[in-house]
Amino acid sequence: MSATVITNIGTLVTNDPSLRAPDPLGLVRDAAVVIEGDRVVWTGESGKAPAADDRVDADGRAVLPGFVDSHSHLVFAGDRTEEFNARMSGRPYSAGGIRTTVAATRAAGDAELEANLTRHLAEALRQGTTTFETKSGYGLTVEDEARALRLAARHTDEVTFLGAHIVAPEFADDPAGYVALVTGEMLNACAPHARWIDVFCEKGAFDGDQARAILTAGKAKGLHPRIHANQLSYGPGVQLAVELDAASADHCTHLTDADVDALANSATVATLLPGAEFSTRAAWPDARRLLDAGATVALSTDCNPGSSFTSSVPFCVALAVRDMGMTPGEAVWAATAGGAAALRRTDVGRLVPGAYADLVLLDAPSHVHLAYRPGVPLVTDVWRRGVRVVREGAETPSNP
Ligand code: NIG
Ligand code: FE
Repeated sequence: MSATVITNIGTLVTNDPSLRAPDPLGLVRDAAVVIEGDRVVWTGESGKAPAADDRVDADGRAVLPGFVDSHSHLVFAGDRTEEFNARMSGRPYSAGGIRTTVAATRAAGDAELEANLTRHLAEALRQGTTTFETKSGYGLTVEDEARALRLAARHTDEVTFLGAHIVAPEFADDPAGYVALVTGEMLNACAPHARWIDVFCEKGAFDGDQARAILTAGKAKGLHPRIHANQLSYGPGVQLAVELDAASADHCTHLTDADVDALANSATVATLLPGAEFSTRAAWPDARRLLDAGATVALSTDCNPGSSFTSSVPFCVALAVRDMGMTPGEAVWAATAGGAAALRRTDVGRLVPGAYADLVLLDAPSHVHLAYRPGVPLVTDVWRRGVRVVREGAETPSNP
C-alpha cells in the first residue's frame, strides 16, 4: 500500500484527546500527516515525518479533519422558495411547511430523489464534509419512508428513520393511529435500512409521550435514538433524550437550566443547527451556556428545503462564532469531533493514527479563518478515506 505525506502544514487540527490541553483542537504547528490506504498512520512535526511514496506540500496552509455533519434531511424533492420568501416578509416558520415537501417527495421517482441527494452531497463534499448523517421524514408512508432510507443507505452508514417528522396528512384526525403505524408496520419496514431513529418532538409534531413510545419501539428494534428537541419552544425533548441515552438532542434552542444540567451530566450531545435559526429568523441557541455547563456541543447544517437550506458547515461555524458565543476553536471542534460524538464515532472527526484519512486543506494559515472570512470558499482540497476527492482548481466531484 502506498503512503502519502502531506507536509509543511501551517496549523494542523488533530482533535487528538491526548494533545487536548491547553487547546481542545490538539493543534500542531509546522506539521505533517501521513496517509496509508484509507487511514491516517502518523501525525506530528514536519521535520520528524517518516518517508512516504508521495508528497503533498501544504505550503503553510491549515489542515483539519473533514467535517462531520451529523444532521441533515437530504432525501427530498421540490423546494420551498416561496415559503422562505414569505418568512422574510414576516410570516413565522411552523412545522406544517413539511407537508409541502412530503407531497413533492412522494410524487418523485427514485432516480430524481437520488440525483437530488447526490447533488447535495457533492456540494457538501466540496465544502469539506466527509461524513454525513441523513434522514427519511418526507415520505410518511411505509413505502415512501423505506424508499428514502434505502436510497440514503447507498451513500452513508449514518441513516436515520424519521417517520415521526410530522403526523402524515392522511392521519390528521388520528395521530394515535399514525404513532401505531410508525411503531409497527413502518418501523418493521424501515429498521433494516437505518442505524438511528429520530422524532420531531415539538408542538404541531409529536409530544413527549408519543416521542417516548416511538423511540422506545425503535430501540427494541435495535435502532439508536436521537431527537429533534426544543427547537421552536421549550418542551420535554431534551429530558427525554437524556432519559433514553440518545446520542444527540438536536436544535436545543429553548433550554431551561434543568435541560442544560441534564445534557451536561449525560453522554447526550447537544447538536446546534444555526442554519435553521438563520433561515427562520429565530433566536440563536446559546452555545456558551452549554459549553460553560460542561455539555458536549456539535454543530451541523440540518440541510433541508424548509428550515435550513444550506449544506455548508463553514457557514454554520461562522454563525456559531459570531452569534452563539463560541470561539473559532470550539466551533471547529464541534463541527468535527463534536459531530463524530453525536454519531458515537471515534474513527472520524480527528486526525490520529488509525482514524479515517478524511482531511480538509484550507487556503488559509489556520482554522480561525473559517469564521474570520465568512462566506469565502476556503476549502481547496478534500481527502475522503485517503482519496483526494477535491483538488484545487479541479471540477466539483459529481458522485461522492
Ligand atoms: O430540523 N424540525 C424539523 N425538521 C426540520 C425541518 C424540516 C422542514 O421544514 O422541512 C428541521 O428544522
Ligand atoms: Fe432537522
